[in-house]
Amino acid sequence: MAYKLFVLPGDGIGPEVMAEVEKIASFFTQEGSAAFEIEKGLVGGSAYDAHGVAISDADMARADAADAVLLAAVGGPKWDAVPYEVRPEAGLLRLRKDLKLFANLRPAVCYPALADASSLKRELVDGLDLMIVRELTGGVYFGEPKQIIDLGNGQQRAIDTQVYETYEIERIGRIAFELARKRRKKVTSSEKRNVMRTGVLWHQIINRLHDQEFPDVTLEHQLADALGMQLVRAPKQFDVIVTDNLFGDMLSDVAAMLTGSLGMLPSASLGEVDSQTGKRKALYEPVHGSAPDIAGKGIANPIAMIASFGMALRYSFDLGALADRIDNAIAATLAKGLRTADIKGSSTEPTVSTTQMGDAILK
Ligand code: NAI
Ligand code: MG
Repeated sequence: MAYKLFVLPGDGIGPEVMAEVEKIASFFTQEGSAAFEIEKGLVGGSAYDAHGVAISDADMARADAADAVLLAAVGGPKWDAVPYEVRPEAGLLRLRKDLKLFANLRPAVCYPALADASSLKRELVDGLDLMIVRELTGGVYFGEPKQIIDLGNGQQRAIDTQVYETYEIERIGRIAFELARKRRKKVTSSEKRNVMRTGVLWHQIINRLHDQEFPDVTLEHQLADALGMQLVRAPKQFDVIVTDNLFGDMLSDVAAMLTGSLGMLPSASLGEVDSQTGKRKALYEPVHGSAPDIAGKGIANPIAMIASFGMALRYSFDLGALADRIDNAIAATLAKGLRTADIKGSSTEPTVSTTQMGDAILK
């Protein structure tokens, strides 16, 4: 059976880094280790140029029918002036919304060869391997009421509302516990129940879920502000961190800087399991954007994109052994001293191009 991948290279460095993933996917197919059927579409500025929208209905349907969607990056100065509803990011937002992707997984892995590029001391991050699970479709980014009210006396009142319901906390908690089971069996849940009612409910639901379904996983709770402090004090204490949309947004950016470069960070966004097919909708993408400053130069780091493909193999296809091969190949390539410009650091090797890095990992 072939795995159906829908590939959206997008804009800027997107097509450059995606090309390296396509090489690896066709290598696996030729080798016979797994068969991938790749279909390609347009998203972001490139979709706008072709169709006048940030993603077409036809491509949305293909994304919906695929086993996994791989997206590189969208946006760039060329589209800064296009109407708001069809700006490049709208394509990404539509994918997340229509595929109902409620869980954002952001691993922070520090390869020993790059530990000196971290904003922390080497010994604090060498061998770091944590996963932040961020709730993506609820909380204060979407809660109602959300408005600015004119008070009439020259004053205005702005309101955002944090809302979480039991089912939303349960399904994100379940993802975190299931991931932890495949890792080091520890979940740290984070909220601010000392000042927020949503935090009280979050804490209670996660505890219940743990006791009823995941007693074999160690659960601890840390208030979100304290967790921020711990992330930069002793990040290796964490395995899986589960938190809400807002705290997850901030904490995952902090975790990102522990690992060195934006060009290294993959992510996954997961949806509900389809009751008919038993499959989960999922989108895999690097954390970085389209990097217009280096687009077209062939110097972008393809590792975040390649590692995102690795996450697809692990979480959508249950091809953990192939994902391990990718991760090991990345680590080995870095250990040899190969560096794209963004992660050059103190390496004495000459800087390599996007394709040279991709080829070395493939080899
Ligand atoms: P960016 O992530 O594109 O770039 C930030 C800096 O990191 C730049 O100096 C860039 O050269 C460097 N960088 C990023 N990825 C790299 C890689 N793989 N290899 C080497 N260096 C890399 O963020 P920026 O500059 O804020 O945004 C640029 C455009 O991308 C904007 O249009 C923005 O809206 C869009 N964007 C898209 C995202 C997405 O598609 N998910 C996420 C973030 C931004
Ligand atoms: Mg953010």
